[in-house]
Amino acid sequence: MSSILNKPFTLPCGVTIKNRIGKAPMTEGLADLWDNPTPELARMYRRWADGGIGLSVTGNVMVDRRYLERPGNVVLEDERSIDQLRAWAVAGTSNDTQLWMQISHPGRQSPIYVSRKPVAPSPIKVEMLWVHGQPRALEENEIQDIIQRFVRTAEIAKKAGFTGVQLHGAHGYLISEFLSPLVNKRTDQWGGSLENRARFLLESVRAIRASVGPDFPISVKLNSSDFQKGGFSEENSRTVIQWLQQESVDLIELSGGTYEQMAVFDEEGGATAEGEKVISAASAKREAYFIDMARKIRQQCDVPLMVSGGFRTVEGMEEAVASGVTDLVGLGRPLSSEPNLANHILDGSVTSARIATKNIALGKRWFSPASDNRRIRVLNSFADVGWHATQIDRMGKGGSVDWNLSPLSGMLQFFVGGMIKQIKRKEK
Ligand SMILES: Cc1cc2nc3c(=O)[nH]c(=O)nc-3n(C[C@H](O)[C@H](O)[C@H](O)COP(=O)(O)O)c2cc1C
Repeated sequence: MSSILNKPFTLPCGVTIKNRIGKAPMTEGLADLWDNPTPELARMYRRWADGGIGLSVTGNVMVDRRYLERPGNVVLEDERSIDQLRAWAVAGTSNDTQLWMQISHPGRQSPIYVSRKPVAPSPIKVEMLWVHGQPRALEENEIQDIIQRFVRTAEIAKKAGFTGVQLHGAHGYLISEFLSPLVNKRTDQWGGSLENRARFLLESVRAIRASVGPDFPISVKLNSSDFQKGGFSEENSRTVIQWLQQESVDLIELSGGTYEQMAVFDEEGGATAEGEKVISAASAKREAYFIDMARKIRQQCDVPLMVSGGFRTVEGMEEAVASGVTDLVGLGRPLSSEPNLANHILDGSVTSARIATKNIALGKRWFSPASDNRRIRVLNSFADVGWHATQIDRMGKGGSVDWNLSPLSGMLQFFVGGMIKQIKRKEK
């Protein structure tokens, strides 16, 4: 019996999470052709809730149907899908589980087959494969509109029975783009100094708090760093976290990287888009990629933390919580193939996630994750994401995990399945 991970945790808003294991958000791709939640989503979240996690953060829910992270995202602009949302919330909150909706705008990281002309703080294109279009800069009134969309989505989530919300401020999506000096070249109040670059995030949090009240959990997922030279740095991140605490944020989920520098999935690190050699977070070859950063945050402030990325062994998770460096451990990939894993961890019947024994890469030689070629490493990262996303898709549809699924097949299902979904979406 793992006592430390079984300990409840009370957030500043007063809500208690029953244990220290959180499900990190994972895009499900299980919405219907009208971008509404489905029984498949509810089924998947009931499986996760029954599986013993204390906190369940949903995959990113979009606030504007013109811009998706991926076809199959749930979009929440108004109350038209409130009944389906309620069914999802009932399933996901069963077994006394906290269910928080992750709210996001993809910014320039919307695939070209969804939006040919995505939006961003400044017209700077993603430097990665050929998946994204040339963005245009957002107008002032559009920025205000997106903040209102975040608020509206949070209000509907609360009304439907979700027990909290999380703003996605990490991984190179819109909020993270505003934070990045490489992507945000604005000269108005939304760009320039860190204070200006953080304004979009802070105003969004403030507006959501004003609307949902003081006792509803609000979380932010934030990069500890973008791992890009001249990008959003560790120091920037620590300052923003202090500002977020002043805005009464209940939990920071700490992550790192963007599409251009996939710190979470790229095992070998390597070079940035500018050819700068960097050490990837994952390349340290140890658990909890962002734990050192969490330690530094702890010295500065006591905001509740969930560190996500790399946790695989029970010993590593227990040590991270026992040392006080993090309050919750966030698990992504391990839970995409073992929805029951938290129960097994908490009853002491496993010592590690099964995924820890699997090497999910396209190949050993030409397509090795250790390749010097950045494009090959990006493809391997997509194979990794695709493999896990395909397992979620299978389980949501009532099937079982396919441990023999090849990474190539996972990647193709992710991309080709998404394109087909987009075509059907447009036909409706
Ligand atoms: C299939 C898949 C989908 C993901 N979708 C999201 C998402 O919607 N929002 C998000 O913040 N992170 C997303 N992530 C990142 C995870 O939340 C997590 O940060 C990352 O997987 C590292 O944790 P892990 O090592 O436990 O997998 C996704 C990861 C995977 C594998």
